[in-house]
Amino acid sequence: MTLLDDISAAAQELDLFLSPMQPHLAIVLGSGLSGILTKLEQQKSLPYEHLSGFPATGVKGHGGRIHVGTLFGTSVLIFNGRYHLYEGYDAWQVTAPVRLAAQVGCQRVLLTNAAGGIDALLSPGDFMLVTDHLNFTGANPLIGRSERQFSDLSQLYAQDFYTELRTQLAAAQIQLQRGILAWMSGPSYETPAEVNALESLGAAAVSMSTIPEAIIARRYGLEVAAVSLITNLAAGKNRQGLNHEDVLRLGSQSTRAFEQLLKKLFVLWLPSGSV
Ligand code: HPA
Repeated sequence: MTLLDDISAAAQELDLFLSPMQPHLAIVLGSGLSGILTKLEQQKSLPYEHLSGFPATGVKGHGGRIHVGTLFGTSVLIFNGRYHLYEGYDAWQVTAPVRLAAQVGCQRVLLTNAAGGIDALLSPGDFMLVTDHLNFTGANPLIGRSERQFSDLSQLYAQDFYTELRTQLAAAQIQLQRGILAWMSGPSYETPAEVNALESLGAAAVSMSTIPEAIIARRYGLEVAAVSLITNLAAGKNRQGLNHEDVLRLGSQSTRAFEQLLKKLFVLWLPSGSV
């Protein structure tokens, strides 16, 4: 069996594990953002590799566990750790967590990631609500799949709540910006020339994940929101070099701000009365 391909057995296993909980919101945590898990109540978790066809995740700072519990009053399914193209998986395989979320009944997914800031308005520590994306990998999770369709991505990312969320967070000294996220395969960071090219094409930030997951979420009819934590200025925007340790450190320093963001986002985005 190919890893992360057909997830039907894993979905049955996860269903059993979740019962009697039925979370409608899934959250995929980006690098360094796992501090939020300390706020998860009545939680239980299982390692990815306990599900058929799911390998452990290999990247430092990506935990590789699925958690279920109540976060700020909302029942959530949290994927701590994801799969990436740069680990050698294809674009379909990296979407396995989101396909799993869809299969067990989630109706919304919040995708989070660490990203390099390109737009001059963005500083490390800021959050960016993703309004649209630019896919520069040439990969698409639907290529060659029986699930392929000409999906309409013209309104992929939820963003109606942006202005209100930004205002509420500003009152707590948390910067929320918005912008277009570019997807690059990694694992090397971009060159300054690539970052300049991305900038001239309208990208505000760049990341190595999220976009295939958003495409698949739309394919399965889930509502999608995506938030980037700007962990560094993109290559060439800063005299210092880039490294993964800085990305993780910035993530853990942003735990309190991320908590506030999620709390407020839940109120503004989720239907009232949803649990
Ligand atoms: N580029 C791509 N992905 C990233 C970056 C970056 O600068 N920072 C964190 N993830």
